[in-house]
Amino acid sequence: MVNYLCDNGCSPARAERRHNDSDRKRRHYFEKFDLSKISEIESKSIPYWYPPHRMMNVEDDTTPWGAKWRAGTSNFRTVAELFTKRNLWALAAWRVNGTPCASPPASLICFAITAMAKGMSKMCQYDDKWSFPYPIMSGTYYMPQIFKEPNAYKAVSDKLRAIENGLAAANAPFPACVSTQSATMLDGIPANSVDYIFSDPPYSDNVQYGELNFVWEAWLDFDTRWHDSEIIVNHVRGKTESDWALMMKRAMAECYRVLKAGRWLSLCYHDTSEGTWGLIQDVLAEVGFIVDKNDSTLFIDTGTKSYNQYTADKTTKRDLVLNFRKPKPGEWRVTQTFIPADVDVATFAELARHIIQGFLTAHPGATKDRIYDALVSRLVRKGQMEAHDFDSLLKSVADEVQQPVKEDLFWNKDPDLLGSHVQSRWYLKETADQVDHGEQAKEDAAAARLSKFISEYLKEMPEREGVHFSDLFEKYLHIHDKPRRILADWLVEYFIKTASGTWRLPDNEEGQHLAELRKAGTLRRIKRFANTLIEGVPVRDKDRPGSDVDLLDWLRQCRRAGLYEQGRAIYEKGGLNSANLSDEQQIEAEDDYRICARRGSTEEAKPKRQRRKKDEDDE
Ligand SMILES: C[S@@+](CC[C@H](N)C(=O)[O-])C[C@H]1O[C@@H](n2cnc3c(N)ncnc32)[C@H](O)[C@@H]1O
Repeated sequence: MVNYLCDNGCSPARAERRHNDSDRKRRHYFEKFDLSKISEIESKSIPYWYPPHRMMNVEDDTTPWGAKWRAGTSNFRTVAELFTKRNLWALAAWRVNGTPCASPPASLICFAITAMAKGMSKMCQYDDKWSFPYPIMSGTYYMPQIFKEPNAYKAVSDKLRAIENGLAAANAPFPACVSTQSATMLDGIPANSVDYIFSDPPYSDNVQYGELNFVWEAWLDFDTRWHDSEIIVNHVRGKTESDWALMMKRAMAECYRVLKAGRWLSLCYHDTSEGTWGLIQDVLAEVGFIVDKNDSTLFIDTGTKSYNQYTADKTTKRDLVLNFRKPKPGEWRVTQTFIPADVDVATFAELARHIIQGFLTAHPGATKDRIYDALVSRLVRKGQMEAHDFDSLLKSVADEVQQPVKEDLFWNKDPDLLGSHVQSRWYLKETADQVDHGEQAKEDAAAARLSKFISEYLKEMPEREGVHFSDLFEKYLHIHDKPRRILADWLVEYFIKTASGTWRLPDNEEGQHLAELRKAGTLRRIKRFANTLIEGVPVRDKDRPGSDVDLLDWLRQCRRAGLYEQGRAIYEKGGLNSANLSDEQQIEAEDDYRICARRGSTEEAKPKRQRRKKDEDDE
């Protein structure tokens, strides 16, 4: 069917005619003028530049070019094939022989072409009941059986007028700097220079931006080879969930680097990918961010739903905004554990207990308020805590110790009716931080995978002394059945930290020693004691080592495990009485302390990637 306008005063001014028109004359004209015009266009070659690209630059015609390829409905191979010859010609004429889109008027024309290109393609569905001029199914390359071929000259000129009106209303040019580069490498932006970041990252395989942008980028004659750095899950192109997590981690680490301390990153999250959300919380915690303590949740209403949103389960419906902060220097940092909103009560309690344990290991003697804050800061949705009994959860893993509040250095505060003369502090029960057998097996299995990785890595790079934590973390992302403790917590129980801050395999003797420590839970006890000293809260008698020789041993373990801050605290504040040690033991204690103090401070000062080189003081 042809719908035509008569430009030079003929009548009727607008009409239609069909290949099977009931009117004989019209049917005749259809063949004589319309079909012959189409044949004429088909027989000529387009005298202008148009995109020469194969979809996604894929050479091989026999395999799908991407996740959006579909046999039958989206099986075109080149950008040009998405258009009829007539509309390809018309758009090419607008494109002024591929003039670069850098500045007006070409930039405005390029803008209008990207706005209209898909509507001018074979994706434009014909349905005489629809009034929408260019109905295409967004988020796909769906080509309907019957499509429309709208007037591309008119569509682009209408859009150009709209753009010009918009720019005039916005009083352009306005002072903004727009730059494009991969978020995984913001190398033009100095560290600690940015006041605020709003990020709307791609979530898993929700929307295939790279594939869906391809037609536009081809028309703009941009370099379309950026897909290797696209953060996406796309199994056709070999991009897995682990790749997605790794690249997100790189992007978030870059955000962390450029953001000023104490400043915020807001992250838009599309609430249909709960699985990925757990991962992203871990990623943000891993690079160092603290989650916003405010438990009210912000949404961005994405407005009118598209056809796809009504029909498909997996499309974006609503955007959640979550805020993360870069800690100020010296501020305590929390590692988040994700708790989905719909977990059952038993699982929730188990996860919540795990969070409390982790927090009290790092912050023994914390007050109830602080523990509660730490817990709710890891809950994603409001209202979860009210449904569960925080007090009984706390009591199941921690003991309360009441201490008098000091009036001044010498006197305790007098008892009062409000009870403000005593303060309650909470300490982990001795049994609370021991791993159960199931968890132990998971840690053993994950450690075995990392062992293999370390040994292969060092075989390939014998000049290296150990593997950096970030490389281990990347490997760790691929392990599916992860232990509940974060990697940094259990790594010290299986591997040896080198002087340069990397990780190596233990030799036989060290391996045996670590196995004994794991069995006895000694490193956990050491951490509990040392972290109490670091927090500056009273130490319970039962958390102290049995003797000065034990204390000396704990200091040695800290040095070996790379728990330098803890080693320092044990020596400086642990109450070591050198009178109870032999001369040799005293020298050992000083050596261990010296190493902890030096490595602890250089580790903080060194940028991560420089920590690979060897240090002489490693034994
Ligand atoms: C959720 S969308 C953002 C949409 C945007 N807020 C908007 O309203 O138009 C995620 C975007 O991240 C882009 N993206 C994917 N990988 C990227 C990378 N490595 N660096 C920067 N952006 C990337 C995608 O192409 C997509 O445009």
